[in-house]
Amino acid sequence: MKCTVYMAISLDGFIARKNGDLDWLPAFGANEEDYGYHNFMESVDALVMGRNTFTKVLSFGGKWLYGSKPVIVLSSQPCDIPDSLPDSVENLHGDMGDLVAGLLQRGFEHLYVDGGKTAQMFLNNDLIDRYILTVIPVLIGTGISLLDQ
Ligand SMILES: NC(=O)c1ccc[n+]([C@@H]2O[C@H](COP(=O)([O-])OP(=O)(O)OC[C@H]3O[C@@H](n4cnc5c(N)ncnc54)[C@H](OP(=O)(O)O)[C@@H]3O)[C@@H](O)[C@H]2O)c1
Repeated sequence: MKCTVYMAISLDGFIARKNGDLDWLPAFGANEEDYGYHNFMESVDALVMGRNTFTKVLSFGGKWLYGSKPVIVLSSQPCDIPDSLPDSVENLHGDMGDLVAGLLQRGFEHLYVDGGKTAQMFLNNDLIDRYILTVIPVLIGTGISLLDQ
C-alpha cells in the first residue's frame, strides 16, 4: 500500500488559514496549470480525508469533486454524509493500522491522504510514502500547519 499526501502550502508552511479559509490559493483552473492533479488522481484508488477537510469540500457546493472514486471520511463520531453524494463516500474511524489494513484488504493500493491532522496521523504511524506539495509563493503568517498538529 502506498500513501501520498497531495497538498498546496503557503511559503510559510500553512495549508489553510486558522478559520480554514483557502482564499490565498490560486483559483483552481484559473490557468492551464493543474499542478499534476489529474495524473495524480488517476493514480489513486481511494481518498482518505479528515472530517474537517470533508466539511470544507462540502462548503464549496456544486458538483462533487471526486466522481465515483472511493472517499473515506475519518471521524471519531458518526459523520453526516449528504444523500446527494455517491455511495462511494463513507465514514470510518479506528486505529490507523487497522484502518489501513482494512483498506488494503479491499484492494486499495494507493491512497490519497488529505487534511492536516489526518496527514500528520498517517505520518506519525509511518504510513506516508510521498508528499506532493505545491508551494504557493504567499505568506499568510498564521494558520493550520502542514506539520506539528
Ligand atoms: N492546502 C491544501 O491543499 C489543503 C488540503 C486539505 C485540506 N486543507 C484544509 O485543511 C483544513 C482541514 O485540516 P485539519 O488539520 O483541520 O483536519 P483534517 O485532517 O481534515 O480533519 C481532522 C479530523 O479528522 C478526523 N480524524 C482524523 N484521523 C482520524 C482517525 N484516525 N480516526 C478518527 N477520526 C480521525 C477527526 O475528526 P473528529 O473530530 O470528527 O473525530 C479530526 O478532528 C481545512 O481548512 C481544509 O480546507 C487544505
